[in-house]
Amino acid sequence: METISLQTKNTTYQMGVTPNGFLLHLYYGKKVDCNMEYLLTAYDRGFAMNPYEAGNDRTFSLDVLPQEYPCYGTGDFRTAAVNVKNSQGVYGCDLRFRSLSRSEEKYQIPGLPAVYAEKGRAETIEITLEDRAVGVEVVLKYGILADLDVITRSAVIKNTGNEEIVLDKVYSASLDFLQGDYDVLHFYGRHGMERNMERHSVVHGIQSYGSKRGMSSHQHNPFFILADSETNEDHGTCYGVSLLYSGNFNCEIEKDQFNQIRMAIGINNEMFAYPLKPGEEFYTPEAALVYSRDGLTALSQTYHRLIRYHVCRGAYKEVRRPILINNWEATYLDFTGEKIVDIAKQAADLGVEMLVLDDGWFGERNDDFRGLGDWTVNEKKLGGSLAALSDKIHSLGMKFGLWIEPEMVNENSRLYEKHPDWAFVIPGRLPVRGRNQLVLDFSRKEVVGGIFDQITKVIDSAQIEYIKMDMNRGICDVYSAVEGQQNFGKIMHEYVLGVYEFLDRLLKRYPKLLIEGCAGGGGRFDAGMLYYTPQIWCSDNTDAIERIRIQHGTSFGYPISAVGSHVSAVPNHQTGRITDIHTRSVVAMAGSFGYELDLNKISEDEKKEVKKQIRDYKKYWNLIHNGKYYRLHTPGKDTEMAAWNFTSEDQREVLLNVVSLDTHCNSPVTYIKCKGLKADGKYCREGSTRVYSGNALMEIGVPIPVVMGEYKAWQMHFTEC
Ligand code: GLA
Repeated sequence: METISLQTKNTTYQMGVTPNGFLLHLYYGKKVDCNMEYLLTAYDRGFAMNPYEAGNDRTFSLDVLPQEYPCYGTGDFRTAAVNVKNSQGVYGCDLRFRSLSRSEEKYQIPGLPAVYAEKGRAETIEITLEDRAVGVEVVLKYGILADLDVITRSAVIKNTGNEEIVLDKVYSASLDFLQGDYDVLHFYGRHGMERNMERHSVVHGIQSYGSKRGMSSHQHNPFFILADSETNEDHGTCYGVSLLYSGNFNCEIEKDQFNQIRMAIGINNEMFAYPLKPGEEFYTPEAALVYSRDGLTALSQTYHRLIRYHVCRGAYKEVRRPILINNWEATYLDFTGEKIVDIAKQAADLGVEMLVLDDGWFGERNDDFRGLGDWTVNEKKLGGSLAALSDKIHSLGMKFGLWIEPEMVNENSRLYEKHPDWAFVIPGRLPVRGRNQLVLDFSRKEVVGGIFDQITKVIDSAQIEYIKMDMNRGICDVYSAVEGQQNFGKIMHEYVLGVYEFLDRLLKRYPKLLIEGCAGGGGRFDAGMLYYTPQIWCSDNTDAIERIRIQHGTSFGYPISAVGSHVSAVPNHQTGRITDIHTRSVVAMAGSFGYELDLNKISEDEKKEVKKQIRDYKKYWNLIHNGKYYRLHTPGKDTEMAAWNFTSEDQREVLLNVVSLDTHCNSPVTYIKCKGLKADGKYCREGSTRVYSGNALMEIGVPIPVVMGEYKAWQMHFTEC
């Protein structure tokens, strides 16, 4: 069997081509220098199908063999990566190897986000498969980031026949495991409580997780981990897969009759039937794979580096983002220009660097029944032009940012009056509303263009350094008012392409603009979005204690720099909980830091504390954003204290963060152990004369003071001395 090996610094990914041209998956894991074909076994399995060319050999069955890109039609009844239907509605596809090519550059995908790397820092392998009977060609693309130990996958499907075919399912990647006792770690949630980590063993049958909501969703995140049942944060084997896509997705994990596992991920295939005319091609989104044999922390840190340096782009990719104040929780829709300046003045006084004007500055948007779609400045409400307001903010030494929700429309708007056909509404049916709004058909270029023109006119009218791009409902009533374009899967996918195009055009036109993603908080928090928006508002839940759990789950697949996180008012608007301002800031500093309250309303002591927080964040941001992140607790398991630390790449600096979750009379002392230090290093703690050894900090830990009161927080900064 001919083998194809992809090598990274510490991993090997190997495939094999059988003499009949079947592309098998041989191995993915720790680096090996070996032909892994020996792992394959051949037995006559009861009721196993055999390809025709196997002749009398009943031991060769694709229902048992590990495959690279399985399809329905070869006798494999497990989860398929691709299903093709011909013009008569016949399913049946049998992809055979045709050719292999290599290039020194990382491939890119037209219209879709993809991992990028400088020339020479990554390579691409393309494997072309074909089914001549159907007339389909599949190009499997592999991006190899050797230094980073990342392998990316994507596929291009081309109709090479003379008749239309339909792709009923077309995933980005499929990964087979011949053996192993694995758990799946997935990240479920709801609005205001996104990305809770859940871990359970993979059982026989198919476990699937996905979204049909038109966005990657609050409910399930397109990031998954398969971990050996013994794997923990520091030890053991695990595999991650992150889909760079912001729309409907699905991940299927199947354990078969012989305890083999298949993990497959891509665009959700429910109601998906994508037609391809002769000559047409379909590009799948990209999936990024990581293998770690050193536990979950190492896996997460690889994703952090990947997303920080090879997915995020733009002027703010590596520099400190301005510390911002957002007026949403301070005013909601009820503000005037004067009020905004009032909030900005106090914030500027305390050191905040940017004012973000949230929802409510446009059209007749004084409640959430109207205004979306009318991207013209409400000068009456602002008491003047946006330029005048922006100038006032700039005169305070601050930058200025603006909220938009381009994909949406209220029926009560001039836009809807003029272009009712731009919204998703099925003729003869009353549309389903969400937050009193409808969704614009971003699969249509003229709709994207119309909104883009309106919004860029506003951006051009004033000095604007930041945009918060929101999306506040799921997509129903999928109907495009373009004749012949009524295919659900096609519209939903092209909708996502429309969103990406909108963002791409915005970034091309304003290369210095910082865009923060948002979808009712973290409903579209995925690696696809991060290609356009280097940070995403992590959740509408700003309660410090609940945020700890949300940010813990988020950290498995996404870097800290991607997490928008703010100090808000107490009692917290989502939970009613009271925490002190220090605790709120320690939690918000595990992200791109900001405020979301009226700082005029806090006490003088709290103002002093805010000034200190800003000084601290400026001092620590590099360590926080570019350092290694270590989870030191598990929500639900460690109920006394939550803790995490940042360690610089050179291990000379550590920031330990601890928050107490419970309080007791005459309490026992908790010791928290740091991670990632030099065992034989000597560390000094800021504000103390004591010297600690790295070993002691990691093996024995530091005592956390016993104090009165709930939800206290500590930040301890150690440097090598
Ligand atoms: C969403 C966002 C919030 C805020 C509101 C404005 O819920 O997540 O941060 O911008 O919309 O309507």
